[in-house]
Amino acid sequence: MSVMNTFIPTLPVPGEFAGRRALVTGGSRGIGAALAQRLIDGGATVVASARSRTEDTPKDATFISGDIRTADGARRLVGEALGALGGLDILVNNAGAARVHFGEIPDEEWEDSLAINFLSAVRLTAAALPALKESPKAAVINVSTGVSANPPAPVMHYGAAKAALESWSKSLATQLSPAGIRVNTVVLGMMATPGGTELLETMAGAMGATAEQVYSSIPLGRAGDSRDAAEAIAFLLSDRAQWIAGSSLAVNGGA
Ligand SMILES: NC(=O)c1ccc[n+]([C@@H]2O[C@H](COP(=O)([O-])OP(=O)(O)OC[C@H]3O[C@@H](n4cnc5c(N)ncnc54)[C@H](OP(=O)(O)O)[C@@H]3O)[C@@H](O)[C@H]2O)c1
Repeated sequence: MSVMNTFIPTLPVPGEFAGRRALVTGGSRGIGAALAQRLIDGGATVVASARSRTEDTPKDATFISGDIRTADGARRLVGEALGALGGLDILVNNAGAARVHFGEIPDEEWEDSLAINFLSAVRLTAAALPALKESPKAAVINVSTGVSANPPAPVMHYGAAKAALESWSKSLATQLSPAGIRVNTVVLGMMATPGGTELLETMAGAMGATAEQVYSSIPLGRAGDSRDAAEAIAFLLSDRAQWIAGSSLAVNGGA
């Protein structure tokens, strides 16, 4: 077996996020939980949010529960996070959801997908902007998917919402760079997270395949680990990426 078939844990640069205050949405499990832990390990103070916490939610994060599909929910989360952190340097719009629909996608599913995968990021960022403008090292990451460029019909509403997220993220980077706020996007491939695995099993099952068969088609030979995504996001948030804004980084095992 090649070394590429397993995730090799890497060490955070000690203190690279010391003094930084971060809000990670979808921080209860999967990629958001791995990222929250990665930022904590680098010295950041972190608020992780979701509707409910899980056993994977980092113990050293402050957990704030809430549904961010509405404007009120997004505003409330940012207000509570600022109350807990006293300011904000890092916002990671990671929460997202992909529900598979074979056949016509109902109108309410389109609205729901746009709300969680796109509008939540727009609203959270708007609410967080005054605090981010006060930070000397402000950075925003938007988490997208390769599905946006190559959307299978049963998740076209998810792909369309994430395509909107990527387009908005580019404009936002242009708008906010002069204020010293770096905005970047990560475009993820197939990751073995609770949400990712459920989605893939449903899609693969409909084609008479298994998730493992699909994962084995990834050029680097395995599904993404949450920590693969966390590491790429941590890089873009760090000083090592101080001259990177408006980028879309593909993290997909070469798919
Ligand atoms: N896994 C993949 O293969 C993959 C690939 C490409 C892109 N992505 C993107 O990566 C991000 C994280 O995905 P993941 O795989 O880690 O997903 P996951 O395991 O399903 O976790 C999703 C997170 O978002 C939260 N969330 C969902 N709906 C929410 C709502 N209405 N309000 C507040 N929080 C909500 C969930 O908590 P609650 O349900 O408790 O609210 C959970 O913390 C998503 O944006 C996803 O689109 C994932």
